[in-house]
Amino acid sequence: MAIQGTLTINTRERGAAMGDLFGIFFEDLNHAADGGLYAELIQNRSFEFDPIDHPDYHALYAWDKVERGGGRGEVRIEKGHPLHPRNEHYVVIEVMKAGEVGIMNLGYNSGIPLKAGETYLFSMFARQEDGTGLKVRVAIEGVEGNTYAETAIAVVSEHWSKYEARLTAPATDFSGRLVVTIDGCGKIYLDMISLFPSRVFRNRNNGLREDIATLIAELKPKFMRFPGGCLIHDGSLDANARNSMYRWKNTIGGVETRPARRSNWRYNQTLGLGYYEYFLFCEDIGAKPIPIIPAGYDPHHKRVVPIEELQPWIDDALDLIEFANGDATTCWGAVRSSLGHPEPFNLEYIGIGNEEVGELFFERYAYFHRAIKDRYPGVKVINSSGPFAAGSEYDRGWKSARENQSDFVDEHYYQSPEWMLANYRRYDSFSKEDPHVFLGEYASWGNTYYNALAEAAFMTGLERNAHAVGLACYAPMLCNVDYINWKPDMIWFNNHQVFGTANYYVQKLFMHNQGDYVLQVSAEGFNPPVHKEIRPISGKLAVGTDQCSVEFSRILLHDHETGQWKYLCEENIYLDDTEEAREIGSARRMFELGAVESRHYTLSMKVKKISGRAGFLVHFGWSDESNHIQWEIGGWQNQDSMINAFVNGRSSILTQSLFTVENDVEYDLVLEVYNRCIRAYIDGILINDTEDRLPVIEPLYYSSSLDEATGDVILKVVNIQDVDVISEVNLGGMESRSLTVEVAELSGHSPEEENSFLEPERIVPIHRQLNSPVSHFEYVFKGQSITVLRMKKQPLYSEGTK
Ligand code: AHR
Repeated sequence: MAIQGTLTINTRERGAAMGDLFGIFFEDLNHAADGGLYAELIQNRSFEFDPIDHPDYHALYAWDKVERGGGRGEVRIEKGHPLHPRNEHYVVIEVMKAGEVGIMNLGYNSGIPLKAGETYLFSMFARQEDGTGLKVRVAIEGVEGNTYAETAIAVVSEHWSKYEARLTAPATDFSGRLVVTIDGCGKIYLDMISLFPSRVFRNRNNGLREDIATLIAELKPKFMRFPGGCLIHDGSLDANARNSMYRWKNTIGGVETRPARRSNWRYNQTLGLGYYEYFLFCEDIGAKPIPIIPAGYDPHHKRVVPIEELQPWIDDALDLIEFANGDATTCWGAVRSSLGHPEPFNLEYIGIGNEEVGELFFERYAYFHRAIKDRYPGVKVINSSGPFAAGSEYDRGWKSARENQSDFVDEHYYQSPEWMLANYRRYDSFSKEDPHVFLGEYASWGNTYYNALAEAAFMTGLERNAHAVGLACYAPMLCNVDYINWKPDMIWFNNHQVFGTANYYVQKLFMHNQGDYVLQVSAEGFNPPVHKEIRPISGKLAVGTDQCSVEFSRILLHDHETGQWKYLCEENIYLDDTEEAREIGSARRMFELGAVESRHYTLSMKVKKISGRAGFLVHFGWSDESNHIQWEIGGWQNQDSMINAFVNGRSSILTQSLFTVENDVEYDLVLEVYNRCIRAYIDGILINDTEDRLPVIEPLYYSSSLDEATGDVILKVVNIQDVDVISEVNLGGMESRSLTVEVAELSGHSPEEENSFLEPERIVPIHRQLNSPVSHFEYVFKGQSITVLRMKKQPLYSEGTK
């Protein structure tokens, strides 16, 4: 086959600096920390699990009572004499008849993963009362009660004291148990029963699971955004409340002094992995820390700190910067130093709020911004533009960022792969004079090879536009397969295995080959891009509701192509999706209105919500259940009007504005469709205005950069089509050089393939090397491939011949 075109890289001119472009985002959802990266093997070590965290929880959750060998006794929870006021509960084991009486921990997933030959560090706090001393048997066992290793600990003190032991597993068993029983009769009090593998990442105390941490470290991220996500702002304003927002000061110091926390992801966060550990982890993996702190506003529950009480929240931000960067003479620098890290953590960035929406946030942001810039002018402050890619709140975030001169705006979106392809030029028009984009959360819905291809194509657009996009990280990062809150995720694990998805390997390729400066690439000779017509926005029309009872009336369709007007139903339509209706089996969520063939039409109607917490829906452009567009008014929090396009069941919220549906108010809805443009009006006001862009299938998607230290020229090329594209690659400016080309390539997979626990490395890049006697060469970019070419100049003459 002949060459189809040429990619010429201008190596003479450096473009925008790429800074810290590609990093990672860590949030403790999907049991990413507890039961995940945090290496603690005991679930509910401090007996603090509570129904506030999850309705199934109780203080003895994940613990079973043990009564063996004829022993009899009682196991109960008390809180009269706690180990620490913030760690109220502890277990009491009272043995009336000697035998083996005590408790057994079930761990996470199938149990405690024991590996043959590995040593485990046991610790607990204990006290007893009668002064005679009690012997505690500590054992690691199999699920059938077979003992792998055991030890005896004498508890003598009447005061809480820490006891430690080491146990080595003689066999591998991923369903192990930790058993703590009392030898003889008596009463004992236990708390903070802990078991860590002795091998943890970088041998840190209170450390991290080696396999997961290593996979993360191998990405070589430039930064880590943490600790959330919604996790940081969903909660009470009271820092001492169990369901408080994520307050960093609660997360440092001895683990026994950290309060347990309800996480909005419906489980208990021990905070064992706290701010100090996050900073250490960043340091260990060479990633700059980007903490995100709450701004005293919970957009999910509309909790807000009055402006006159905001100062302590601002102080938290300032203190955090001091904790990270201050020397030991500063108050918080001294705290860091006392924890074992006299050197600063060199914090450069701080984020205020996570995908916040609403005026209340923006009002507060300005106070944080000013205070931080006054005290720490060099620290870059990150504003927020909400959870959507476009719309009124997105624009509001940008307005605030411009007004306050924020350094970055945190954008978040989770979209279909088709949206990624349709929008890979999203940042081409962004100005370098504006605040920079921090793409703090993004992903296409799925972990297939096709998702990876679409994300890679999109990421070439991020790289090319490094003048505007300063930071970007895929989300979420981690998921424990038995505790899924959110899918897809970049890395999956259970209690003993971990694997990176195809998306992971794309991120890794981009991180390893980021470069320092953008280089311009020009393409010549290729076929023009093709707009892939997924479906016209015509077809079935329907109305619907979500958890409400609603009444639609006077539904009128104006077909602008035929000029026809028609009412789509003669009678009013009642839909009822309330819990009551569901209980008696009479729920009705959707009503089909017929179809429209035209691509230019207006649909209008009246609608009233009678009861329920959300709102209503207008479905259009309907080919089938998985491929349609919906105008959603209300949404899960009853605060949005948004246009949501589904392609093969994967949604993309094209635009959003704030709107709350009131009960018993009749609204006038008008939806206008003109080709791929969509406009929605409520009571005559334009509320959503968007275009459902078609995916652009380029012959190749590409970006290039210069690695300053090595002088390497890096070219990334994504070929989405299923046919090979042959291209000449030309290094303009290095005409007389011969090259060594290091190739990393993801190819040879069908779109639906995925990595899995069974085949963790089914999709991984292959590496090879090419030599070119001149600075231009022919390369076959395989169908459906992601290729990184790292071009290394050869010296003009070898040293010996000089
Ligand atoms: O990444 C998962 C969640 O998505 C984050 O917590 C939140 O910020 C976003 O809505």
